[in-house]
Amino acid sequence: MSGERKFILGVLGSGRGSNFVAVAEACRAGAVPAEVGLVLSDVAEAGILEQARRRGIQAQFIPPGKFRTRLDEEAEQAYLAALRAARVDLIVLAGFMRVLKPPFLDAFAGRIINIHPSLLPSFPGLEAWKQALAHGVKVTGCTVHWVDAGVDSGPIIGQQAVPVLDEDTPETLHQRIQEAEHALYPRCVGAIARGEIRLQGRRVFGGPPGVIRGA
Ligand code: GRF
Repeated sequence: MSGERKFILGVLGSGRGSNFVAVAEACRAGAVPAEVGLVLSDVAEAGILEQARRRGIQAQFIPPGKFRTRLDEEAEQAYLAALRAARVDLIVLAGFMRVLKPPFLDAFAGRIINIHPSLLPSFPGLEAWKQALAHGVKVTGCTVHWVDAGVDSGPIIGQQAVPVLDEDTPETLHQRIQEAEHALYPRCVGAIARGEIRLQGRRVFGGPPGVIRGA
């Protein structure tokens, strides 16, 4: 083992944490040269906290404060303090249901990524798989992107496509997209941790090639 410091991930999530599990397991298996140092949630009973604790990873509920869709100032500072204390190199959003605002974004500029359940720029925002079904597209998927001040609008690091089938319900399509997410997210985090990613304008070089999966 070299004495090199590990690349530390801070994961933020509000839900069951299946993407966190995919990333944490890839780290543990050595496929991603990083370790999850901290998991934070705005939901006290979120599955992601339980998943982290089960793996011996520090996990903390931090109340989001008085707003519904973002963190209030006090909460923002509390999240930042916890992330800094854990010496986090990269913030990995995994189903975190609050929009991060400039003070937070500036504190970790260029070091926050998100996964979204559509092929952006199609269907940003909530329940993207339902938007895809309602629109009638035949292909959708998932996207890993840098987080900027917009909603699901930052430069794209990686994408994986999945088919939309005639018999799909919102649940079956979401499930298929999530399986793609669990493959894509660790690959993107790995590329970042290995220092392979380069950003030029909106184009990200060095990430995993776009994946098109058959039916
Ligand atoms: C994922 O589908 C992701 O695309 C979206 O939120 C969901 C989180 O799911 N941003 P999980 O908590 O990782 O299972």
